[in-house]
Formats: sequence, structure tokens, C-alpha cells
Amino acid sequence: MQTKYTTQDRGDKKDYQQYLEAMDAIAIEKVASASVFFEPKQGNILVDVGMASGTSTTILAQLFPQLDIIGVDINPKMVDIANETYQLPNLSFREDDGEKLSTFKENSVSGFFNCSAIHHITSYNDYDNNRAINTLRRQVELLKDKGVLVIRDFVKVEEKEVILELSTVPKDTRPSDSDLFIQFA
Ligand SMILES: C[S@@+](CC[C@H](N)C(=O)[O-])C[C@H]1O[C@@H](n2cnc3c(N)ncnc32)[C@H](O)[C@@H]1O
Repeated sequence: MQTKYTTQDRGDKKDYQQYLEAMDAIAIEKVASASVFFEPKQGNILVDVGMASGTSTTILAQLFPQLDIIGVDINPKMVDIANETYQLPNLSFREDDGEKLSTFKENSVSGFFNCSAIHHITSYNDYDNNRAINTLRRQVELLKDKGVLVIRDFVKVEEKEVILELSTVPKDTRPSDSDLFIQFA
């Protein structure tokens, strides 16, 4: 049956494991770059959009036990995997479309973490750049006063200079970020 996430389905359990392992290899770095922006205030809600395995969401929940951390993903298989793998009192996962976020109330969220999510939202089920605008507009509607919206993703380069800060340190058997950048450029 075709559903809105059909083209994002990775296949069987082994395919998902392989995909998620590669993504989770840098989960700590991803959370470290974002966590400094979130206020650790009791009861605040933080939403991890497109949480996939839920690994980054769980690191956030461990870092901020006073916050309510919610991971959302459009793919119900991801929600099942995350629920099976991780359980903490301040952590939950749910199915929702990041562009609509219809399971949340306006003025209720203190922070959004969009980690490698927006390029998925725009690029799957046909490319539509407007979905990035819709997604961010919806998040602004849901944010409380002084809420924080963090985006970690690719940059669509316009006609202006872009400064990238990339590590030159190789990681075990993998090349450094700067070597990878040169390779793919
Ligand atoms: C590259 S993964 C990023 C996972 C995780 N945030 C990380 O950085 O490790 C992108 C995730 O976004 C999810 N996704 C794609 N389109 C979505 C949408 N419209 N709403 C919510 N999640 C979506 C995919 O199912 C996938 O799990």
C-alpha cells in the first residue's frame, strides 16, 4: 500500500540497522553542537524532528532530565525501532509529519532540533523546497515565547560567500570531515 512515507521505507530490519548505524556513528557530535542552545528548565518540551533511531533524542533526554523530550518521525517503522530501543521517563516517540506537526499545540514547545531532517522533508516524495518554509513556519507557530529553533543540515548555497568550519582530525578508519568535503566537492 502506498503511504506518505513509502519512498522513505528502507526495507527489512537489516537494511534499517545498517542505515541507522551509519547515521548514529556521529550522534554525540550532532547533539553536542545543538545542546548548548536549549534552556534546561523543568517541564519544557523539546522536539527532535525526524528522530530516526531515536539515539540523538535519547542523548538529549539523558543530558536534560528536567525536560520532556519528544522524537517525531513520519516513518512508523522508525517510531517502532526507537520505542523498542530506548525507554526513559522523560522520553517519548511519536509518528508525525514534520511539515505539519499536527500532534502538538500552539505555544507549547520550547525547542525544536532539526537534525538532518529538513533535507529529507523537502527531498522525499518529490522535491519541494517550500516544505522547508512550511516546516519552519509551523515550528514558529508551536514555539513558546523565547523558544529556540535549531537546524543542523545542508546549506543551499546562494550567490554569496559561505563559511564552513570543518574538522581536519581523522576519525578511526574514516577520513576527516574536511577530507570528505574535498573528496565530494
Ligand atoms: C537523515 S535522518 C536524520 C535522523 C536524525 N535526526 C539524525 O540526525 O541522526 C532523517 C529522518 O527524517 C525522517 N523524515 C523524513 N521526512 C519526514 C517528515 N516529513 N516528517 C518527519 N520526519 C521525516 C526520516 O524518516 C528519517 O528518519
